Amino acid sequence: MKIIRFPLTKNKSLQAWNAADELIMENFQANDNTVLAITNDRFGYLSCNLNHMKPISVVAFKSQELALNYNLEENELSATEDSFVSPFDSFPNKVEQAIIKVPKSMELYRLYLEQICENSTDDIEITAAFMTKYFNKQMVEISEEYFENVEQSKAKKKARLIIMKGKKSFEKHELINNVKINDKLSLKQYYGVFASSKIDIATRYLLENLPLFKSELQIMDLASGNGVIANHIIDKYKNNKWQTPHLHLVEDSILAIESSKLNLQGDNIHFYYDANMESIEAESMDMIVSNPPFHFEHEENTEISLNLFRKAHSSLKSGGRFILVYNRHLNYNPFLKSIFEKTNFVAESNRFVVLECWK
Ligand SMILES: C[S@@+](CC[C@H](N)C(=O)[O-])C[C@H]1O[C@@H](n2cnc3c(N)ncnc32)[C@H](O)[C@@H]1O
Repeated sequence: MKIIRFPLTKNKSLQAWNAADELIMENFQANDNTVLAITNDRFGYLSCNLNHMKPISVVAFKSQELALNYNLEENELSATEDSFVSPFDSFPNKVEQAIIKVPKSMELYRLYLEQICENSTDDIEITAAFMTKYFNKQMVEISEEYFENVEQSKAKKKARLIIMKGKKSFEKHELINNVKINDKLSLKQYYGVFASSKIDIATRYLLENLPLFKSELQIMDLASGNGVIANHIIDKYKNNKWQTPHLHLVEDSILAIESSKLNLQGDNIHFYYDANMESIEAESMDMIVSNPPFHFEHEENTEISLNLFRKAHSSLKSGGRFILVYNRHLNYNPFLKSIFEKTNFVAESNRFVVLECWK
């Protein structure tokens, strides 16, 4: 089986699976004809290797959907139409076995466990896997909220399993956080969305240093999370009594884009569940604003952002601007200067930079 990262990367240290995935494959005992769910399989290693069981794969990111489809096709495998489900969906059948590649966010881990418990038989068995350096005692505590019997395996190649049996009686929870923005406003977001129950400090810095122009009426919030930046812009235009702009929110995470739908509504708000800005028309935006991603689970990876910056450039009208916040050490200015007409530092602190780039 050949599994590669998608989007393709030149960085050889970034792998499409790790020892935790291998440990699952070594220890997982597939019962015949069992209904299996696989969760948080970011590039498809597990879904491809267990394809003969026709698993249900829980897909929470557009990039994950693209990676799974890419690797299935590369290995001449196929998945049926209802084998990909989102974290909001019911499973097509009650599952009897499930695999979770434990995510970094413990909120997301809980959300995945809830979905499995809601859509499984009473004798469901779950195998969860993680790298020991990322062990967090909440992994066990949360598992014990849902299962009577929670056991950890011995470590192998610095990976370990948690085996859960004996499902407790299940009561569905509403897994939504309220994020306080100010005394009058809170935004909602599903568990597992960026920054959990608070506003990110880089985002706050951007909002404090975000120049707006009333002539800009097509605005993109790129990597929009719960929509906090778009929400701020709408508010400012309203307070200034400027014409209502169109806000285009672009996000890879389905939990994030669905969260932003809870916070922003109207004919001028447009949502795109998208990983590479494919659904955005070229030269259509007056302004693009972003607190771009650079952490993917436990990895730091700027390749994806650099690609989004190139796409941001092509989505802007001539004379349009891209404004972003980033951690100083990422030093994006030289790259952005090479693709934009000019760049300009709007604000700088010891930790963050707000940079404006003109097309
Ligand atoms: C630093 S967070 C910012 C979220 C939000 N704008 C805020 O300020 O709270 C970056 C966001 O980028 C999203 N993301 C990651 N890869 C992406 C991609 N390829 N396209 C669009 N969004 C992406 C993540 O899901 C995450 O919500």
